[in-house]
Amino acid sequence: MTARKRLLVTGREGQVVRSLLERTALHNDIDILVAGRPEFDLSAPASLATVIKSARPDLIVSAAAYTAVDQAEAEEELARIINAQAAGVIAEAAQALQIPVIHLSTDYVFDGSKMSAYVETDPVAPVSAYGRTKLAGEESVAAATDNHVILRTAWVHSPFGKNFLKTMLRLGESRDSVNVVADQFGTPTSALDIADAVIAIARNLLASGSPELRGVFHLTNSGRASWADFAEEIFRISADLGGPVAAVGRIPASEYPTPARRPANSQLDCTKLAAVHGVRMPDWAHSTKTVVTRVVQPLAASI
Ligand SMILES: NC(=O)c1ccc[n+]([C@@H]2O[C@H](COP(=O)([O-])OP(=O)(O)OC[C@H]3O[C@@H](n4cnc5c(N)ncnc54)[C@H](OP(=O)(O)O)[C@@H]3O)[C@@H](O)[C@H]2O)c1
Repeated sequence: MTARKRLLVTGREGQVVRSLLERTALHNDIDILVAGRPEFDLSAPASLATVIKSARPDLIVSAAAYTAVDQAEAEEELARIINAQAAGVIAEAAQALQIPVIHLSTDYVFDGSKMSAYVETDPVAPVSAYGRTKLAGEESVAAATDNHVILRTAWVHSPFGKNFLKTMLRLGESRDSVNVVADQFGTPTSALDIADAVIAIARNLLASGSPELRGVFHLTNSGRASWADFAEEIFRISADLGGPVAAVGRIPASEYPTPARRPANSQLDCTKLAAVHGVRMPDWAHSTKTVVTRVVQPLAASI
């Protein structure tokens, strides 16, 4: 990018939004604009286009979503307005401004029955309300504009907001052991790495109108883990730092019933992203260490 570019990101306190704010600060040719509640409310999609147009962005990162996976089972209509209808309105606004949109989606568009990592062309078949509404979001974005990148990511953690990693560390402060599901597999992914990848992809989209750079891509850290593997790694790193520790009891998902079904395997193959956009993500354990260190060090200082 030669001239300064204006990236508009949706949401305010979300993990990906906060990570983008932190990472774009390292790039002096990028200005980041935040569109969030109350003036930018995805549950009222009609109001969104005006806010976007007046911000005059060069690219939109559509990162805000209804992300409460279990709650969505009881609120599918609200989740659909936010994840599908509003996503479509944002993409239409991008099309009207003739700018690209990078839209965040999820591994939960898959049913989890594949034994190996999912590629972008594998059939989608969500097994939860959240997954169905996010898939509908992908469809509305693609229908609104060809100038899009849909990034399916998974198991997001960061020093910000709510996530599994922070929950484990909080539980480790008060409990000796926690039971964690050991038969669902995916890839823990740092929102800080997602932010770096989004910036690289944004640069590519702003530099070239090539259709090859557009479409659906998988974006996770590399490797594969179960939730129990992830929890054990979190506590191993935390122990080295003098932070909270708990023993991990490995249980089957059948012993941890939740309102929403989750895929048994949702590992995503990210080969296409590396080949087309040149983005290679670190190993999940490496990025887990970065995030645990940031969460634990202030905790340890306060004990
Ligand atoms: N978290 C995961 O494990 C995961 C996994 C796969 C894919 N993803 C996808 O990745 C993207 C980013 O996820 P994340 O982890 O950063 O999400 P998050 O931490 O749960 O944050 C959600 C964001 O959406 C915003 N939001 C929710 N309802 C809204 C509304 N009605 N109007 C305006 N903003 C609203 C929130 O606004 P406030 O700032 O006002 O609270 C917040 O900024 C999402 O598209 C998500 O579907 C996430």
